[in-house]
Amino acid sequence: MTGKVRVELGPRSYFIHIGHGLMSRLGELVREAIPDLTRLLVVADAGAATWGEAALRALREAGLAAEVTTVPGGERCKTLAVAAAVWEACLDARLDRRSAIVAVGGGAAGDLAGFVAATYQRGIAFVQVPTTLLAMVDASVGGKVAINLPRAKNMVGAFHQPRLVVADLSTLSTLPDREYRSGLAEVVKHGMIRDRGLFQLLETEAQAVLDRDPEVMAGVVERNCRIKGAVVSADEREGGFRTVLNLGHTVGHAVEALAGRLERDGGPGDDGLLHGECVAIGLVAAARLSARSGVLAQPDLPERLETLLRRFGLPVRLPPGVDPAAVEAAMAYDKKATGGQLRWVLPVRIGQVQVTPYVLPEDVRAVLEELRS
Ligand code: GLY
Repeated sequence: MTGKVRVELGPRSYFIHIGHGLMSRLGELVREAIPDLTRLLVVADAGAATWGEAALRALREAGLAAEVTTVPGGERCKTLAVAAAVWEACLDARLDRRSAIVAVGGGAAGDLAGFVAATYQRGIAFVQVPTTLLAMVDASVGGKVAINLPRAKNMVGAFHQPRLVVADLSTLSTLPDREYRSGLAEVVKHGMIRDRGLFQLLETEAQAVLDRDPEVMAGVVERNCRIKGAVVSADEREGGFRTVLNLGHTVGHAVEALAGRLERDGGPGDDGLLHGECVAIGLVAAARLSARSGVLAQPDLPERLETLLRRFGLPVRLPPGVDPAAVEAAMAYDKKATGGQLRWVLPVRIGQVQVTPYVLPEDVRAVLEELRS
């Protein structure tokens, strides 16, 4: 089963291809999307090295001139030093203005590779081949690309849309369980924002989702790409509407700064929380805050949300040792970095959210206290 979603952005429109075994067709899909291509550089996530090799093989088998460079897995690749190494690799591979970069891996590798593509020779074509659930349903679609500064995530970047996204669902079979579950948090988020039917499907098919059932997951990933694609089409450069995608991320980012892998420099064996795990906690906080603020129109929403997240093995309370006051302080830092005012995304009912700055600090405090573990 193969699906195709078009992200409508005028001359920057592109297709997301979703299906099992698509990697072997990568060369053909790239040729179709970028007809006058000269050379390619595969930027392979070290955590998905075999898929990087498979991509390289597929491109070469299609007669394309392709080289590969490997970057560290996770957030550790989103640094100026790694970007500089990939710029050099572009030169070594003799990329020109008609060349392309192909990112193979998780969301962080896609962000880094996209940033290099946006800047090398003032911008060259870019293809996303996501190999994690989180990258498939979220990070590979939308064109926001960036590296981190030591003190601030995603602080240097660009809007640079991919020319093509190829989500080969076979890659999910090699994904560690915790990472897979972490990706499910963004899937739940998309259902909460725009798709009641998706949320209900996740509730009724929870076991099939956890078992990575090929047919169920093909449908789930396609539905998510449609949601993300539609929001990006409506607001490519995050002028307003796209803020809805931040559901769960206000508290989520604060928790990530305090207890995420980000802070601890990532790495195997690290005990920090993954991005999706922080988002899961943030979703619970947003639902409870919505109830306290009088925005919520569906009283059973917070409980259904928590039940679903628990079913997916995701955390729904602050991690031990993370103090609610510290979360509040981290949110204040985020607020300063984004220009003074937090814009809360609060669920109204499953499938509908409202963006508002009008949230009382005492309600935020009370919710964070409730989430203390
Ligand atoms: N790269 C993710 C986004 O644009 O939202």
